[in-house]
Amino acid sequence: MTRLAGKSALITGAGRGIGRHFAEEYVRQGARVAIADIDIDNAKIAANSIGDEAIAINMDVTKQDSIDEGVDQVISAFGGIDILVNNAAVFTASPLIDIDRDDFQQVFDINVAGTLFTMQAVAKHMIDSKRRGKIINMASQAGRRGEALVAVYCATKAAVISLTQSAGLNLIKHGINVNAIAPGVVDGEHWDGVDAFFAKYENKTPGQKKQEVSNAVPYGRMGKPEDLSGMAVFLASGDADYIVAQTYNVDGGQWMS
Ligand SMILES: NC(=O)c1ccc[n+]([C@@H]2O[C@H](COP(=O)([O-])OP(=O)(O)OC[C@H]3O[C@@H](n4cnc5c(N)ncnc54)[C@H](O)[C@@H]3O)[C@@H](O)[C@H]2O)c1
Repeated sequence: MTRLAGKSALITGAGRGIGRHFAEEYVRQGARVAIADIDIDNAKIAANSIGDEAIAINMDVTKQDSIDEGVDQVISAFGGIDILVNNAAVFTASPLIDIDRDDFQQVFDINVAGTLFTMQAVAKHMIDSKRRGKIINMASQAGRRGEALVAVYCATKAAVISLTQSAGLNLIKHGINVNAIAPGVVDGEHWDGVDAFFAKYENKTPGQKKQEVSNAVPYGRMGKPEDLSGMAVFLASGDADYIVAQTYNVDGGQWMS
């Protein structure tokens, strides 16, 4: 079944990890996909491996010019954008007394301002072109509660949940649905970095933190990108027309609100 036939999607941070997997799944569902990433080499590798229905876009979501140029490129290539997935983000962690102001600013610029202003640029286009669009923001279980060593990243993901609510309420009158996905722990390069951080600060051996979080998931293992793709396709499809401003946990049972 091709649930996204004829649609065009822009996915930020899709050069690797969850975003790349979403790009592959969207193409399987009949969409054309723009893989936007600050790492253009990875974006090109991903697009080439997917084939003619995917293009690579050089985009830094912290820079307005880069967002605007990237959005214009996708509109030129595909004739418009029906689906935006705000997926680009970075992780950071440290004890509270070691939080660095520049690092705080950079992580908020990417995870929060990047999400907001990419959403704004694509929403303007959707409104101008009178298309019923779908915007999906990547939140996290980290946005549902604080963590002792992860104050800044958790705060950015709480902000993504809040932005999803406000944007969802503001844009639905234009037929644009804004919703979010809150994954739990998803294995991949992102979590390799998280594991290395905890090895340093909690004096763990490499791989130990991953094993611990894996054991704590009610489902019995860490997530994989493909565990999220059903929700990503659903929220991008017409089946989600009546869903507004929600954040869905897809986390193997870790969080319940
Ligand atoms: N992996 C997890 O356990 C997990 C859990 C909860 C939420 N999430 C969220 O899911 C999303 C994807 O996670 P992932 O594990 O695939 O991460 P990842 O680190 O593997 O991929 C993130 C991508 O974003 C890109 N990026 C970074 N800065 C950018 C910028 N300024 N402009 C454009 N692109 C930029 C990176 O180059 C990379 O390709 C993120 O929003 C993340 O916070 C992940």
